[in-house]
Amino acid sequence: VIENVHALEIFDSRGNPTVEVFVTLSNGVVGKAEVPSGASTGENEAVELRDGDARLGGKGVMKAVNNVNTEIAKALKGMDPHNQPLVDKTMIDLDGTENKGRLGANAILGVSMAVAAAAAKDTNQPLYRYLGGTDLEMPQTFHNVINGGEHADNGIDIQEFMITPVKKTSFRDGFEKIVNTYHTLKKVLEDMGYETGLGDEGGFAPNMKNSEEALKALHESIIKAGYVPGEDIAIACDCAASYFYNKEDGKYHLEGKVLTADELSDYYDKLLTEFPELISMEDPYDENDVEGMVKFSESHRDRLQIVLDDFICTNPKLLKKAIKEGAGNASLIKLNQIGTVTETLETIRLSRKNGYNTMISHRSGETGDTFIADLAVAINGGQLKTGAPARSERVEKYNRLLEIEEELGEGERLAFFPDSLDLD
Ligand code: PGA
Ligand code: ZN
Repeated sequence: VIENVHALEIFDSRGNPTVEVFVTLSNGVVGKAEVPSGASTGENEAVELRDGDARLGGKGVMKAVNNVNTEIAKALKGMDPHNQPLVDKTMIDLDGTENKGRLGANAILGVSMAVAAAAAKDTNQPLYRYLGGTDLEMPQTFHNVINGGEHADNGIDIQEFMITPVKKTSFRDGFEKIVNTYHTLKKVLEDMGYETGLGDEGGFAPNMKNSEEALKALHESIIKAGYVPGEDIAIACDCAASYFYNKEDGKYHLEGKVLTADELSDYYDKLLTEFPELISMEDPYDENDVEGMVKFSESHRDRLQIVLDDFICTNPKLLKKAIKEGAGNASLIKLNQIGTVTETLETIRLSRKNGYNTMISHRSGETGDTFIADLAVAINGGQLKTGAPARSERVEKYNRLLEIEEELGEGERLAFFPDSLDLD
């Protein structure tokens, strides 16, 4: 049973405070977790509790830490760590709000992940096995190699330009191609006269004037690295369109252009025609522009993976609504947007049931925790985006996948999904 739950304040990859949690079981087994933090957050994300006082620019998380060490620790003492749904429901009820704002989603998620880590250790299984059962498959990975928008100080308004291996080989083989392309991209950018400093997610943050230039550089790098665009390596974008949507005039202010929803669709079409290897787009419309998102989804569903991030915030209720409306065809999955492991699995299960792909995601503020690498394997056949092959907080996740792939060996498929937790 759970003997003790303890949190402390640590720091993330942007130097901001975050929560670390240790869960100790009565037999001495310890599970640990570190909580990530986003910059381009969706309006409906579970609330990250920050102190708002004079310390550390108000970003301290001592309130969340104290909530773990007092209320949550008391409520979970004696509980079975293998009953993740009950542990998570206990914290959700204890919090009592719709958005986890009282105890803090950062407090609750840290405990939720650490309980899963402890339970896995307790059964002598790696986390991916504990969460996913047998018959597992490595995820397809998406690597953000040019950073714009909220994650970089440059002229590019689209937030992420990712490359992904599309030949079904091993993870190691695909990752090698990504690494080669990444190093080639550095040279291509240098030849173009750009700085090659890195953005928050390890991608380059060249001071380009627009997204088309970024796509051109990527296209050229894939070829120069010796690969065929679309056959070996494809491209994906996270538009994070809320960043360039203007609420006042209801238009998209993108790199010097002012566009209606329809005109934005035309602009995307231009990119899709020029770069046939562009296969996936995340948040192409503002999170409140349901009309724009649905119209674009209807006309592009067959051509493109349309990933919903800010639009659904990993929330099963918002996903249900999006499915009904006909928005997108894939879900982005971020544990800290919803705040518990159980609800995250529920959103994944709901996505799959409705034919939506799932892409597990890091946050722009990350830690060394590799939970999401295990999760991406556990959900089987999923996708994972966790940054460029640079900066340890990103590379650690890929290194973890290399370890897992070696352990899995061959012939593993299919995963099982935990039954849905009834949260109503
Ligand atoms: P964030 O960025 O962590 O800053 O929200 C990632 C994303 O938008 O997908
Ligand atoms: Zn996003």
